[in-house]
Amino acid sequence: MSNNTKDSKDYSKYFDMSGAKVIREDEQGKIIRVNGRDIHIVSQPSYKDEKRRGKEEIQVHYETGIPDELKDLGRGKTYNITTYGCQMNEHDTEVIRGMLEAMGYTGTEDRNSADVILLNTCAIRENAEDKVFGELGHLKHLKLEKPSLILGVCGCMSQEESVVSRIMQKHAFVDLIFGTHNIHRLPHLLKDAYFSKEMVVEVWSKEGDIIENLPKKREGMKGWVNIMYGCDKFCTYCIVPYTRGKERSRRPQDVLAEIRDLARQGFQEITLLGQNVNAYGKDFEDLNYSFADLLADVHKIDIPRIRFTTSHPRDFDDPLIDVLAKRGNLVEHIHLPVQSGSTEVLKKMSRKYSREHYLELVRKIKQAIPDVVLTTDIIVGFPGETEAQFEETMSLVREVRYDSAYTFIYSPRAGTPAAEMEDNVPAEVKRARLARLNELLNEIGRERNEELRGRLVEVLVEGESKTNAEMLSGRTRTNKLVHFQGDVALTGQRVEVRITEPQTWVLKGELVHAPERANAG
Ligand code: 5AD
Ligand code: SF4
Repeated sequence: MSNNTKDSKDYSKYFDMSGAKVIREDEQGKIIRVNGRDIHIVSQPSYKDEKRRGKEEIQVHYETGIPDELKDLGRGKTYNITTYGCQMNEHDTEVIRGMLEAMGYTGTEDRNSADVILLNTCAIRENAEDKVFGELGHLKHLKLEKPSLILGVCGCMSQEESVVSRIMQKHAFVDLIFGTHNIHRLPHLLKDAYFSKEMVVEVWSKEGDIIENLPKKREGMKGWVNIMYGCDKFCTYCIVPYTRGKERSRRPQDVLAEIRDLARQGFQEITLLGQNVNAYGKDFEDLNYSFADLLADVHKIDIPRIRFTTSHPRDFDDPLIDVLAKRGNLVEHIHLPVQSGSTEVLKKMSRKYSREHYLELVRKIKQAIPDVVLTTDIIVGFPGETEAQFEETMSLVREVRYDSAYTFIYSPRAGTPAAEMEDNVPAEVKRARLARLNELLNEIGRERNEELRGRLVEVLVEGESKTNAEMLSGRTRTNKLVHFQGDVALTGQRVEVRITEPQTWVLKGELVHAPERANAG
């Protein structure tokens, strides 16, 4: 590996478990001793296995609830969860909360008093991981003061072989590590962690089946609904196909039933979630049903707003554009990650589309939905990115005119092909490119917002503004933040606001029309 950015790391040291002594091995896994700490490894992640894409059919299991003997495990006890990363993780946290509360636990913000602390982690970039290791450093003191505390690490980092080895060696006070494929096993794993003195490690390298009917604790008026799990795209920089496994779509009837149920409960907005939602349904062997078909069915459900994330430009097809053009509850906002404006870099990223293909897709979308808001993700400083290639990204941004974007400096991830690519771009050049890109995006974002001056927009009111209690805060259909004066009782309703003062990050406006007592749904 040759990499001269500050992010480069010698991962090999994390794999060195030669000091580990195997104490016992049986059908429950093995117990090893590392630096004096016993660790019960039921199963451990492996990059090699995570790369594999088997042909086995995915089964759907309908969970019947928490087993009786575990229902009281949490009675009188509290839990605290910190969630890092994307909406998929946020949604997993809702499932974890749902299960913990079904076991009698109650949530607490106060870590000092919590009986269970979980970190639901993100592996997408190194700085996300650094935060978690920093946090573990703080939590060590809490664990030493209160040995009965159960401290668990879950989420994408747990799926990484290097991370699990590092925790076993250097953070031996952790009690429980589980991954993204076995969240439903949490009640059993917690029991094991309580009743044994060992650190319990159960991480599945292979994705599991789809588990339906797990309890979920949702809050507020917006709900996330998973439509598929995993990713088969294997973009060369990305860890997700390894941490989240192969693409598995939930059955349409399960997705639609969940959305209808949320509509009945009064939810105002649903975001359909998947790492690559456009691949929805491609894994069904007995059914010809695509993401466009799913949206056509969701379009008929009486819920005001439907969003989805994340799209891959390669699978974004014409039937999908046609269904989005029907509007209704399908909002005119598309998050369409481009990653780079250079066809050569896109090829090295294995994105499987060219600059021209992307721009043609944008043209078609804008033709079908003229007021569409496009947002994107961009990586700068991919290994070997030249100045000219970076300029192609800048020119693509000028051409598309995104309303906003998430921008990142490339971060090498152990186990991915790009981490092995030669990189001669100095870190300060990468930082300077990021700054230039962000400046351009801000300028265009401001201009796009300026176009809304004097216009009426529909705002879903979320409550008092966090920065100014005099103002209400809400979101447009295109997910732009709006502040305006109004009665806090409007929270949860959709109102009409005239934009009077557009700024870069927020649109200020005045209330024009509020429904009488509508709770649209
Ligand atoms: N380095 C930097 N950014 C990354 N992303 C994914 N992997 C990496 C990486 N190794 C970005 C992509 C993706 C978003 C969720 O995170 O832009 O779309
Ligand atoms: Fe990662 Fe590419 Fe899959 Fe997105 S589509 S999750 S960037 S591999």
